[in-house]
Amino acid sequence: MAALHRVAHRGYSAVAPENTLPALAAGVQAGATFIEFDVRTTADGVPVVIHDRTVDRTTDGSGKVWELTLDEVSALDAGSWFSPAYAGVRIPRLTQVLDLLRGGRAELLLEIKPPATLEQVKNIIGQVADAGLRGRTVVQSFDPAIVALVAEAAPELRRGLLRDGFDAEQVAVARELGVSYCNPSTTAVLGAPATVAALVGAGVAVMPWTANDITLWPALVEAGVAGLISDRTGELTGWATALGAG
Ligand code: G3P
Ligand code: CA
Repeated sequence: MAALHRVAHRGYSAVAPENTLPALAAGVQAGATFIEFDVRTTADGVPVVIHDRTVDRTTDGSGKVWELTLDEVSALDAGSWFSPAYAGVRIPRLTQVLDLLRGGRAELLLEIKPPATLEQVKNIIGQVADAGLRGRTVVQSFDPAIVALVAEAAPELRRGLLRDGFDAEQVAVARELGVSYCNPSTTAVLGAPATVAALVGAGVAVMPWTANDITLWPALVEAGVAGLISDRTGELTGWATALGAG
């Protein structure tokens, strides 16, 4: 089997609270070749790493991320919801995540969540550049308009387009946006292997999310994916190693 990217989804989020420094560090230690995480910008313009539009599900606070200041976001407990063992873990700033990942070899799969302005996209990319991580980073989004903003801000940076299901004109859309990756759901990949083949033929790699069901991994690989985006980093590394794709 050819080498397969092992993408730690929101870090190794099966064992630590998603998108926190412990989860991202655990992803590296468990052998991820890509660390995936989500970036939003606070009311006072600071990029932070959190998935949801609000802080409600993953912290002890409430409110929309873009209506809270960095001080307000940083005061929240982002670990206790997952386990008391992580009590007091904070929502990290993007700069903290970049500092953590700079020392290793794993690539960064940085997702920008909407809403995001050109100024915010430029600020995020600027922090990646300042950390010396431009060459190791792919910036992706579900929102094609944000992918286009990334292309405008940094044409040389690798980009990815996230999809729920494949678009009817998926290859043309991917080409138009100049993406290196097109990452749909596992269901989309298994339901449309011809689209995967067409994308791969056009030079666009496919990495489905969220591949947590181990019984689906062989079929996804058979469909031609370049990697699997999963919460289960350790098992993914073990499985790929056992099959000679580690
Ligand atoms: O990178 C793939 C995956 O993260 C997309 O979905 O909702 O977990 O950001 P979501
Ligand atoms: Ca994500």
